[in-house]
Amino acid sequence: MELGLKGRNAVVTGGTRGIGKAIARALAKEGVNVVLLARSREALERTAEEIRRESGVLALGIPADVKSIKSVKAAAADVVSQLRTIHILVNNAGGPIRRVDRQIEWPDSDWIDDINMKIVGMLRCVQAFLPHLSRDGTGRVINISGIAGVGVLSGALTHGFNNSAMNHVTNYLAADLADDKIAVNTVIPGLIATEWRELWADNLARQQGKTKAEFLSETCRNWGIVAGRWGTMEEVADSVVFLASDRARYITGAQLSVDGGFGVNKR
Ligand SMILES: NC(=O)c1ccc[n+]([C@@H]2O[C@H](COP(=O)([O-])OP(=O)(O)OC[C@H]3O[C@@H](n4cnc5c(N)ncnc54)[C@H](OP(=O)(O)O)[C@@H]3O)[C@@H](O)[C@H]2O)c1
Repeated sequence: MELGLKGRNAVVTGGTRGIGKAIARALAKEGVNVVLLARSREALERTAEEIRRESGVLALGIPADVKSIKSVKAAAADVVSQLRTIHILVNNAGGPIRRVDRQIEWPDSDWIDDINMKIVGMLRCVQAFLPHLSRDGTGRVINISGIAGVGVLSGALTHGFNNSAMNHVTNYLAADLADDKIAVNTVIPGLIATEWRELWADNLARQQGKTKAEFLSETCRNWGIVAGRWGTMEEVADSVVFLASDRARYITGAQLSVDGGFGVNKR
């Protein structure tokens, strides 16, 4: 399928590993120039180089901490000085739950830090890149939320409210940016085999005296993942590529679940 993405420019926050890296690689394979934002300079350089070698597109790694508006604005100025127009902004920066203890007992500084990172971080990125997003119908904001925002996962209080807030903000921005012809959508990943999730499954399987396959199969049953397996990072990335493309030009304010059927609510 011709997606019409060749030569466009994308910014992917948290693009150095996990789902963000898979999204950047998938866009690059469609001929999109990609800018990765994350904190680790070393990972940014390594990942950008990997993508350049793999796809031959322009791939830049620009250090930015989404918790700081100063840092995000400096990164946006740097990106724009090199690329002028941005067509696709993917708000993906996030990560694992910080600790496994009961979240209602956390100090509020931990709650606020998690909100500051994911949901306010996403707002900062939208604000900083908005003046530079294309307004000819190719502009896209794609937010990566997660199933903790649509169902209750124990131990995922802050992830839950970040992701449900992100789903709401997607609809808000879809309306707000409609006159600028910028489409805003959410992709909602389920249980995805990222690098840290692989370690999580290895550790829990070992602790429970099970094989990893047994542990994952039981987890999918308990979580109501009707596909019976976890998802790959590439399966999430494919959905983002579609939403970024001309083929999705009439889609805005949508929530696309990539969760193996978690959302059908079979428990
Ligand atoms: N893995 C899953 O099963 C799953 C399921 C549902 C939803 N999600 C969502 O998908 C997104 C990606 O998750 P993931 O599992 O792929 O995460 P991950 O592997 O931990 O990668 C996180 C990325 O975000 C960057 N990052 C972290 N803090 C940042 C900050 N303050 N400023 C800028 N960049 C920052 C990291 O780089 P640096 O550390 O160098 O900054 C890294 O590139 C998250 O929003 C997560 O909530 C994941």
